[in-house]
Amino acid sequence: MWELLSIVTLTTLPQGVNPFYYDPVYYVPQYKEFLEVQSNLTKNLFTDYDPTISPVYTWIDVDQPIGYDSQAPKRWNYTVFLYYLKLVEVQEPEEKVSVVMELMEYWYDARLSCNTSLYQNTTSFYARQDNVWSPTLTVFGVNDIMDFRDQDNRMVAIDNFGFLWDYISVRISANCQMDVSRFPFDTQTCQIRFCLPIFYRVQVEILNEIYEGIMDENIFKTMGNSEWKLINLTNRVEVLKYNDNMGNMDLLNVGLTNIMTMTFILGVMADKIPRTGNIPLLGIYIIINLVIMLIAIAIVTAITELRRWATPKLKMKRSALR
Ligand SMILES: *[C@@H]1O[C@H](CO)[C@@H](O)[C@H](O)[C@H]1NC(C)=O
Ligand SMILES: *[C@@H]1O[C@H](CO)[C@@H](O)[C@H](O)[C@H]1NC(C)=O
Ligand SMILES: *[C@@H]1O[C@H](CO)[C@@H](O)[C@H](O)[C@H]1NC(C)=O
Ligand SMILES: *[C@@H]1O[C@H](CO)[C@@H](O)[C@H](O)[C@H]1NC(C)=O
Ligand SMILES: *[C@@H]1O[C@H](CO)[C@@H](O)[C@H](O)[C@H]1NC(C)=O
Repeated sequence: MWELLSIVTLTTLPQGVNPFYYDPVYYVPQYKEFLEVQSNLTKNLFTDYDPTISPVYTWIDVDQPIGYDSQAPKRWNYTVFLYYLKLVEVQEPEEKVSVVMELMEYWYDARLSCNTSLYQNTTSFYARQDNVWSPTLTVFGVNDIMDFRDQDNRMVAIDNFGFLWDYISVRISANCQMDVSRFPFDTQTCQIRFCLPIFYRVQVEILNEIYEGIMDENIFKTMGNSEWKLINLTNRVEVLKYNDNMGNMDLLNVGLTNIMTMTFILGVMADKIPRTGNIPLLGIYIIINLVIMLIAIAIVTAITELRRWATPKLKMKRSALR
C-alpha cells in the first residue's frame, strides 16, 4: 500500500524538479535549494556551449596594430599567476635547472557569463575542465615539462562574468646559461618562458603576475635547496621577434608571439667544481696556495743549504781568531 502511494507521488512530480533523495536530517533546506539552483544554472549555461570552440575573436586583420578596430572587443585576456616555486636541482655541467611551479591560469569566456539575479545571486561554481574550452599554456624552449595533475580530475572555477581559473602544478627542466667564473660564490640567473602558441598578438593579451605573498625573504628561503638559495624572482611579458629585417613578410607576423618570463636568481655555496673550461675562483685559490707552499719549501731548502755552506767557513774564522 505504502509503496504504491510513493510511486504515485513520484509520477505526479512537476517536470524539472530534481528528484534526488532529500532528508532534512542530513541537509539544511538552503543546501537543497542551492543544489537545485546550481543545477539549473549549469544546465542553462552548457546547453548551447561547445567546449571545442574557442572564444578568441578572430575578425581581426593580424597585420594591423593592436586595437585598430574600435568596434572589435579588446584582446582576449589570459593571465598566469605564480603561487610558488621550488628549486629541485641545478646541474651545472649540463646547465640545467629543474623547478616545481604552482601556477594559476585565469581567462575569459563570454559564453559562460550569466545573470546572477536569475539564479539567486550565485556568483561562482565549479565544473570539470573537460566541459569548458581551455587554452594550452606551453613552456617555451625547455627540456622537459611534467604536469602533476590527474588527467581525469581537473577542475575549473567559473564566475558569473565568465572568468575562469584553474590551478596547475608542473615540474619544468629548463636550460639556463651558467657563468661559473665566480664559483663557488656564483650567482646564476635562470629564465622560464611561457607562451600561448598559435594565437596572434593582436588577438590575445598575456598577463603575468607573481603572488605578492611570496615576494618575501623568508619565503624565498624555503624555495631554494641545500646548495642553492633563491635571491630574487621577477616577471615580465615580452614579444618574441627576430632581428632579421623581414618585418614586411607574413612569416615574421607568425613569430610575433607574446611570451611571459619568470626569472629567478640563485646564489650558491657548493662543494664540487663543475667540469667547464674556465678556471673558477676556487681553482685560483688552490693555485695561490700551491705557489705559497712552493715558496716556503724553497726558502727552507735555501736556508739549509746556506748553513751547510757557511758552517765550515765560520769554524775556520773562529780557529784563526784563537
Ligand atoms: C529550476 O528550473 C526549473 C525549470 O525551469 C524550475 O521549475 C525550477 O523552479 C528551478 N529551480 C530553482 C531552484 O530555481
Ligand atoms: C584585459 O586586461 C587588461 C589589463 O588588466 C584590461 O585593461 C582589459 O580591459 C582586459 N580586457 C578584457 C577583455 O577583459
Ligand atoms: C537579470 O534578470 C533580472 C530578473 O529577470 C532582470 O530584471 C534583469 O534586467 C536582468 N539583468 C540583465 C543585465 O539582463
Ligand atoms: C540578491 O542580491 C540583491 C542585491 O544585493 C538582493 O537585493 C537580493 O535579495 C538577493 N537575492 C537573493 C535571493 O539572495
Ligand atoms: C629583485 O629584482 C627587482 C627587479 O630587477 C628589483 O627591483 C628588486 O630590488 C630585486 N630585489 C632584491 C631583493 O634583490
